[in-house]
Amino acid sequence: MREQLQALQEEALTRLQEAGSLAELEQIRVQILGKKGALTSLLRGLSEVSAAERPLLGELANRLKDAFNEMLQQRLRLLQEEELSRRLAAERIDVTLPGRTPPLGGIHPISRALGEITTIFRSMGFPPATGPEVEDDWHNFAALNIPDDHPAREMHDTFYLPPGSKGEKRLLRTHTSTVQIRVMENRKPPLRVIAPGKVFRCDSDLTHTPMFHQVEGFLVDEGVHFGQLKGILERFLRLFFVREMPVRFRPSFFPFTEPSAEADMGCLFCDGRGCRVCKGTGWIEVLGCGLIHPAVLENVGIDRERYSGFAFGMGVERLAMLKYGIQDLRLFFDNDLRFLQQHARL
Ligand code: FA5
Ligand code: MG
Repeated sequence: MREQLQALQEEALTRLQEAGSLAELEQIRVQILGKKGALTSLLRGLSEVSAAERPLLGELANRLKDAFNEMLQQRLRLLQEEELSRRLAAERIDVTLPGRTPPLGGIHPISRALGEITTIFRSMGFPPATGPEVEDDWHNFAALNIPDDHPAREMHDTFYLPPGSKGEKRLLRTHTSTVQIRVMENRKPPLRVIAPGKVFRCDSDLTHTPMFHQVEGFLVDEGVHFGQLKGILERFLRLFFVREMPVRFRPSFFPFTEPSAEADMGCLFCDGRGCRVCKGTGWIEVLGCGLIHPAVLENVGIDRERYSGFAFGMGVERLAMLKYGIQDLRLFFDNDLRFLQQHARL
């Protein structure tokens, strides 16, 4: 029996040493230590050995078992590590390869324009703020110096909603100037904010859609003047278009600013000669602006003697149509795949 044990030890350890896979190791374990394994049957045979020989043989058999188990664990660890390195090498990813463009999906040109506008203003110290799209009369009109009977309400083609639970008038905001009021009601000057968002008007043609986007911007501090407003807007337009584009400021009227102006960009579709996009004028209006009317400051509890401010509201679709050369604003919302494939980029 002693020879049998020695022979088995040699055989078992050599086989473990030579095993090349985890499956092979398991097979060997079963053949040696399994229920019908070689060592298991030898151990069972110990009961038939004489009492004098039994302790010695028993010890030999246990040592063999320990040695076998120890080498089995070692080989297991080694083979597992080898297996892992093989997999890591096989599944290696080259992160420097260019990404695969999905056949569908990308960033809509309006989102892209909004992102660029926000980034430019953030760099000039104007962080974004938001307000609700369903508004009340106060924030959309009254606080902005447009009382009930004011003819300027006609300029807005407002979508009215059924009154709220307390009978209050509700509407879809017609401009982002509502956010001026919301921010000024809640914060103290000095203020510097932009407010990008959706606005709604009952209006539709080449340069008007019933839902469109505006970016409002305003600044309230001591000693603010029109020159600063013009400087900020000219700088913004240069950064946004990344090239020289003709711009003109034209006197205009808004009840919430005094003086007021509108800025037009030269029509890129006819080089200013006049076409159907610019309705023959050679110019496309992109924004309204002015110095905040003292009555508005008073409405939100800001000292009109101490503080002054400027504000502007720009049409994002108009800026995007000029930047990307899109002739009809309605294309932005048709979701025609051909249009999106041309203009929606990752
Ligand atoms: C306003 O909405 C003012 N709240 C802007 C303002 C803010 C003035 C702060 C002074 C101080 P207006 O109605 O002109 O102004 O609209 C602003 C811009 O939105 C326009 O210049 C134009 O670029 C864009 N816009 C207006 N109506 C539409 C429309 N239906 N579709 C697409 N863009 C439009
Ligand atoms: Mg206008």
